[in-house]
Amino acid sequence: MVEISASILNLEEDNVIKKLYDLEAAKIDYFHIDVMDGIFVKNNTVQKMKKYCEYLNNISNLPIDVHLMVTNVKEYVNEFLVFKPNIITVHLEAFSNKNELKEIIKYIKENNTRVGISIKPDTKIGEIFEILKYIHQVLIMTVEPGKGGQSLIPQTLEKVEALNEFIKKENIDIDIEVDGGINEKTAIEAKKAGANILVAGTAITRAEDYKKIVEELKKI
Ligand code: DX5
Ligand code: ZN
Repeated sequence: MVEISASILNLEEDNVIKKLYDLEAAKIDYFHIDVMDGIFVKNNTVQKMKKYCEYLNNISNLPIDVHLMVTNVKEYVNEFLVFKPNIITVHLEAFSNKNELKEIIKYIKENNTRVGISIKPDTKIGEIFEILKYIHQVLIMTVEPGKGGQSLIPQTLEKVEALNEFIKKENIDIDIEVDGGINEKTAIEAKKAGANILVAGTAITRAEDYKKIVEELKKI
């Protein structure tokens, strides 16, 4: 069975506490927090995501899955560590070399938090093979990072397949999360390719009935 990480990026602010309760009651597995700095991608969601993390710390025990789409990674790692996330995912493309990336991985782990690495649609999967042994999760972007509500790019699922084959062959225990354009239809393809955690934003937040859509996505 796949797990569902609900992206709350597009959750409107009115009545948001009730919506967060409803998402938890709908049995999502994680709250996915999309942090955008206005540099790595155009949008800036820092204040909104901080506010939502504060709410979550007060009202929910579900794990927080932070996805940092930022250039100054360390600054935002520090800003979001305070919310005690279960995992922080950073983008490979934000680093100029592997040593810097390894430093951040070490830093996040020293702060008792799991680590994920994300790659954009144009980044080759082979680029992260050498760091898999240091991390807990790979987040494969199935759309260009920057906003919710886009369509999944089918070729990105070939990377999920390749990664899945590689980790099986090398006997590496790691989660494969996909992010962007996940709905009832694409979820089936993503699972078939080997993803075990699906991020879903607008498919859930735009639905009339959170319970129904989450159930549908989980049982595929
Ligand atoms: C995109 C974000 C995603 C996105 C998911 O940059 O990382 O988490 O908001 O939203 P949907 O499911 O609507 O594509
Ligand atoms: Zn995301």
